[in-house]
Amino acid sequence: MLLTYSMPGQELVCFTLVLISQTSVIYPIKCAASYHTRIVPHPPDLLKWVKREGGFVHQALKISPQQQDDTTYGLGLVASQDIPKGSLLISLPHHIPLKFEADDADSRLSSSVVSTLWEHLAEELWAMKLGLRLLQERAKVGSFWWPYISNLPETYSAPIFFQGEDIKNLQYAPLLYQVNKRCRFLLDFDQAVRRNLESLKPNDHPFGGQEVDASSLGWAMSAVSSRAFRLYGKMTADGTRNNVPMLLPLIDMCNHSFKPNAQILQEEDKENDKSQIKAETDIKQDNPLLLNYGYLSNDFFLLDYGFVIPSNPYDTIELKYDGALLDAASMAAGIPQPNFSSPAAWQQQILSQLNLAGEAPILKVTLGGLEVVEGRLLAALRVLLASDVETVRKHDLNTLKSLSAETPLGIANEVTAFRIIIALCAIALEHFPTKIMEDESLLKQGVSANSELAIQFRIQKKSVIIDVMRNLSGRMKLLSSKDTASA
Ligand SMILES: *[C@@H]1O[C@H](CO)[C@@H](O)[C@H](O)[C@H]1NC(C)=O
Ligand SMILES: *[C@@H]1O[C@H](CO)[C@@H](O)[C@H](O)[C@H]1NC(C)=O
Ligand SMILES: *[C@@H]1O[C@H](CO)[C@@H](O)[C@H](O)[C@H]1NC(C)=O
Repeated sequence: MLLTYSMPGQELVCFTLVLISQTSVIYPIKCAASYHTRIVPHPPDLLKWVKREGGFVHQALKISPQQQDDTTYGLGLVASQDIPKGSLLISLPHHIPLKFEADDADSRLSSSVVSTLWEHLAEELWAMKLGLRLLQERAKVGSFWWPYISNLPETYSAPIFFQGEDIKNLQYAPLLYQVNKRCRFLLDFDQAVRRNLESLKPNDHPFGGQEVDASSLGWAMSAVSSRAFRLYGKMTADGTRNNVPMLLPLIDMCNHSFKPNAQILQEEDKENDKSQIKAETDIKQDNPLLLNYGYLSNDFFLLDYGFVIPSNPYDTIELKYDGALLDAASMAAGIPQPNFSSPAAWQQQILSQLNLAGEAPILKVTLGGLEVVEGRLLAALRVLLASDVETVRKHDLNTLKSLSAETPLGIANEVTAFRIIIALCAIALEHFPTKIMEDESLLKQGVSANSELAIQFRIQKKSVIIDVMRNLSGRMKLLSSKDTASA
């Protein structure tokens, strides 16, 4: 759960490519909202299986549906009585996690075909790699992992399963781009898999002769991206340990919190690694077990885990750094003669140092999150609004990038920079087709589960922008009171 992955770069063709299975599917992916439906109606008891395989499960833990308002979201682990801080909650012996290790000699992986497919995948596409492994076990009669796999949700709420309308409902281009990229990847990969499997004899078929298509690949990729952990694998010959993604049965039922009550640990034992979770705080009866999946923006929570965190302090919005856009923002803020599009040579030099100009610049800048304004954007504005090279040169780049460095280039410079960022925020808000109030009234009317997720997502993005505007206005007030006090 600790890493996200990137897909091969592909230009955006259309925003609303949806994953629709054209042919009959062995693993039907229903777009219904029942994310708590398991693959089979009465799966084996996961707790018993883990214990039978030599794992430890704290006696006060039970599997229970997680509810919020009157919707059931899925299964989670809950304490059936108080559990003191420090208690061992779950311990899995090394043969229980489902993983793929390239150098794993005793790998249960029988088919070289799957390995060939893997070679087509870049290392960062680990979710799909492990997903293929999962599909292979899902198709295998009598798989060791069947008690685990049969308890997996039948469907996921990740946006790759959204209908076109709900993808559009997200209203936020960077996420639309990611969703589209993943869908395209799945469709392309589906073709590659089919080509590889076509010529095979049934005995060599890695999926037991069953057809694999974009829907089943999407199911597997979502199962992995929403559940896998990156932990250390086996010691390699040179004594180092690789960071490998793996699926941890039972442990992966813990939901996320930025203030978790449980923590994942790996017992250092050369022969027999154990993956464990311990209680990080006292856990009260009926409380769910929560792990921190990472300090992520809502983009990743939605893409990988299929939910949105309200008032997520790590949520940000992305903008493209662009002189013309800054000029427009200055005009909107009533600042005369903006010339962000034509910086002086010394300013251009600093922009290059900030990686906002020059060869292979990184033009993506963010607003919101803990930083409020990305340091590179703040520094650029401060520098572009300064007329005096000498004053600027007195400060190092880190000071210029820091919002907490108080007015390094003077109060007037700072206030103007803030005004322009606020205007930039206003422009970004106008780009959303609806206002928060309209979104909220849509939610009140009642919409499908996926529409609700999409609408919640865009409400949160707009809130991030509004919070940045409030924060900077607050800072401007403080500055102007200082200004009058010192005058
Ligand atoms: C997990 O937590 C998120 C965020 O709090 C929530 O939206 C989601 O419904 C939870 N999932 C389950 C299965 O409880
Ligand atoms: C625009 O650039 C000129 C010359 O570099 C400078 O004198 C002027 O102050 C700049 N205007 C703004 C708004 O920064
Ligand atoms: C702006 O946000 C920062 C970081 O979240 C916070 O520490 C600060 O108090 C906020 N300032 C104002 C004026 O809202």
